[in-house]
Amino acid sequence: MFDMNKITGNLILVGLMGAGKTTLGKQLANKLQLEFYDSDQVICERTGVSIPTIFELEGETGFRQREKTIISELVQLQNIIIATGGGTVLHEENRDKLKENGFVIYLHALPEILLSRIQHDKNRPLLQVKDPMLKLQQLYTQRDRLYRATAHLVIEANDSCTSETMTRLCALLRQQTNQQ
Ligand code: S3P
Repeated sequence: MFDMNKITGNLILVGLMGAGKTTLGKQLANKLQLEFYDSDQVICERTGVSIPTIFELEGETGFRQREKTIISELVQLQNIIIATGGGTVLHEENRDKLKENGFVIYLHALPEILLSRIQHDKNRPLLQVKDPMLKLQQLYTQRDRLYRATAHLVIEANDSCTSETMTRLCALLRQQTNQQ
């Protein structure tokens, strides 16, 4: 279990695309002096290609397989912060591994907020569709319960300013560790 005072255990961020997992994860890692890993970034480093290229060559199924492998590896590490890809929770095996090997935080944000943050980003293959808002709503409907089922803590991440979410997150983590 993660302990903010003793800095033991892993801290894992889950949530939809655009929730701020990478941004907040990096900030938190900086603050707590922990190593930071972004599962998508590790996949790109290993393969030498971008996420859209993996989707193009291997489809979503191929990407999910790679994601599963990387998650299995990352959760073996100790005292790190992990920003997961938005679809990581789709596989039960991933959900179990995240839950068992770290303190999982769901960054919850509404589809309309998410879209305003990422609508011009071409690096997210699932959103390269005619109606990205509809797609995000579908993903939210499908995944919100999976994120909640995986997380030890849910935090609202609708603010336009990440520093507000960061402040709330740190306060909640402190509260959490004091309760243990
Ligand atoms: C995906 C989210 C992306 C990336 C891939 C698939 C998803 O990560 O893993 O494009 O299924 O929601 P981010 O959540 O970091 O954007």
